[in-house]
Amino acid sequence: MFEAGQKRRKFAVGNWKMNGSIATNKALLEKLAAGVKDFHDADCVVCVPYPYLCQAQQLLQGSNIAWGAQNICSTKNGALTGAVAPHMLVDYGCRHVLIGHSERRSQFHETDDTAAARFLAAQEAGITPIFCMGESADERDSDWTEYIVGRQLDSLIRRFGPYVLKNAILAYEPLWAVGSDQPATPEQAQEVHAFIRKRIARCDAEVAARVPILYGGSVTAANALGLFSMPDIDGGLIGRASLKAEEFIAITRAANQAAARN
Ligand code: 13P
Repeated sequence: MFEAGQKRRKFAVGNWKMNGSIATNKALLEKLAAGVKDFHDADCVVCVPYPYLCQAQQLLQGSNIAWGAQNICSTKNGALTGAVAPHMLVDYGCRHVLIGHSERRSQFHETDDTAAARFLAAQEAGITPIFCMGESADERDSDWTEYIVGRQLDSLIRRFGPYVLKNAILAYEPLWAVGSDQPATPEQAQEVHAFIRKRIARCDAEVAARVPILYGGSVTAANALGLFSMPDIDGGLIGRASLKAEEFIAITRAANQAAARN
């Protein structure tokens, strides 16, 4: 039971996207493991490309960094060339998986339906889904942010009910801020995070109070603390800056500091 006044944890989640090599990963993960070892108030996670899950497991076991994948297949086994089943991620110790990232939606034709199916498959395998939502620049300009983000959120709640969010992380990633060096301001992000939490609270206040909502889109060491200090922002989902050890350590430090202050 989530006690009134109980704090939500903060997260720094790195999304490596399609980057890395055995050699660069080793250097990065070793520096990260040493750099975040004293941060106990926030959770540090890296979501790596599939081929590097084994390396992440070997290098991070026993550290305070968790690792995960960037996608999952909703089917358990079978004739699905190129797909990776939930139990395969479990075999490599994955605790998290990204679901419905905007790059998957826009470049790999993933939909609310397929994202919802993947979300459930992850949960059923005991992996925490990190479900991504966000509007494009045109949609924001047309004042559709709440409509788009609300629709993406409802694609889970309508299918599975609000309790499915008990063991999940949400991420607000406005498409215009991803990879753009144009982050949302803390106030802009907070407004959407508060909208997401209120919409969940219409169904269940306790679930709404408990679910972590991360912000993603051009997070850096310089802007992380400002974003993570907002009341409904529970840390970040970080792309480019998660590939630089010093930068990602500083972002994790910011998550830790914001959590300790809460
Ligand atoms: P950047 O941090 O590179 O903008 O990417 C954000 C993102 O897409 C994380 O999932």
